Amino acid sequence: MEAFLVEGGARLEGTLRVDGAKNAVLPILAAAILTEDAVTLEDVPRITDAMHMAEILTILGCRVEQQGKSMMVRSGGLHGWEMPDRLSKQIRSSIFLLGPILARFRKATVTYPGGCEIGLRPIDLHLRGLRSLGVKVSESGGMIYCDGAHMRSGDVYFDYPSVGATENVMMAAALLDGVTAIHNAAREPEIVDLQNFINAMGGDVRGAGSQMIEIRGVKQLRGVRYTPMADRIVAGTLLAAAAITGGEVELTNAPAGDMVAVLSKLREMGCCIHEEPERLHIRAPERLGAFAQLQTQPHPGFPTDMQVQMMALLSVAQGTGVILENVFENRFTHAGDLNRMGARILCSGRTAVVQGVEQLYGARVTARDLRGGAALVLAGLRAQGLTQVDQAHLVDRGYDHLETQLAFLGAKIRRIDI
Ligand code: EPZ
Repeated sequence: MEAFLVEGGARLEGTLRVDGAKNAVLPILAAAILTEDAVTLEDVPRITDAMHMAEILTILGCRVEQQGKSMMVRSGGLHGWEMPDRLSKQIRSSIFLLGPILARFRKATVTYPGGCEIGLRPIDLHLRGLRSLGVKVSESGGMIYCDGAHMRSGDVYFDYPSVGATENVMMAAALLDGVTAIHNAAREPEIVDLQNFINAMGGDVRGAGSQMIEIRGVKQLRGVRYTPMADRIVAGTLLAAAAITGGEVELTNAPAGDMVAVLSKLREMGCCIHEEPERLHIRAPERLGAFAQLQTQPHPGFPTDMQVQMMALLSVAQGTGVILENVFENRFTHAGDLNRMGARILCSGRTAVVQGVEQLYGARVTARDLRGGAALVLAGLRAQGLTQVDQAHLVDRGYDHLETQLAFLGAKIRRIDI
């Protein structure tokens, strides 16, 4: 097993480029099977979730070639509509394949992807959305059987603007005759990127980024070379690393326009941030001020994937703040370890009260999920002494060697075998 070993105290400085977004690449890799032509994605980050998705496509019969940050998918050999059980559990995002497999084969069999550390992660909204398109869905023994023989376009309404469910229906409808309308759709920037990708293949999707998306089915989609949007959560995490160390960092290829909520909170904590369309410059104070409250919401609200990092910042800020996690039911898993480092965090249900302290102290802690692990690394950057963050592989799911990126900016951090 690997861990990060961090020696606190270094002030981060320098310039770093942000890679493609994990949460755009994963649905786009699934959508690539909507055509038998070659699809080439550029700027794909070297993260394990993307590698696992490529592995699933390969097992289903696609040819996937990776050269550096380019990934090419040819799905002509796609033979399977049955998702391998092991892989469905290994990566939740395999559920994104449900829509495109139904679009191709009009039938699909998948295993319940199961929950993870941050929550139960149900898929009822995915299934209800597909049923609205005439898919017959039956469930037994942990397996989901979808019969799309009589699939048709139509209206889909989501009780909650689920990102994955919105993406699944967009992909399922892309080749369906007629117009499908998704009401109360998720509005995340990654949804807009999926729309842009499908349209680059010759599709006709409109309205992504708003609560109503219209998909006009087309007969066929063609191959394309496409560069997914930059990762707003990695960008936010790097800004947070600069902020917690009182540093000054510049990010290029940063999706500033998709980060309004995060930039607003960092400014509320006393950071000076200059933004241009694809460039962000942050200068942080020696000690951050506390924000009064932070609530996670579907986009354009504050992103849940940045909540954990902001808790780390708040734990050393001047003052006290309240965090409400409205999206997932168990996203404070890292608070206990932060308290072991000297933080003063009181959690009750989806509410955390954080009283900022002058100093954190290095300790041996454990990542329990992707973003919680990143938050513990951030805390280690500020803590006095050495912090060891175990289970580095969980952070590798969404960050391309976070330690290398932070070390490039001056952090004293390395990966160790334990
Ligand atoms: C996507 O997950 C992201 N993952 C998550 O990022 C992100 O936190 C989340 O959207 C919210 O922005 C990818 O894009 C690969 P949801 P997804 O469906 O699609 C409930 C990260 O760290 N729900 O919008 O699973 C669900 O339980 C990851 O990069 C249902 O009840 O998010 C949750 O409480 C973590 N039924 C809420 O909706 C359903 O059928 C949000 O889920 C689906 C979801």
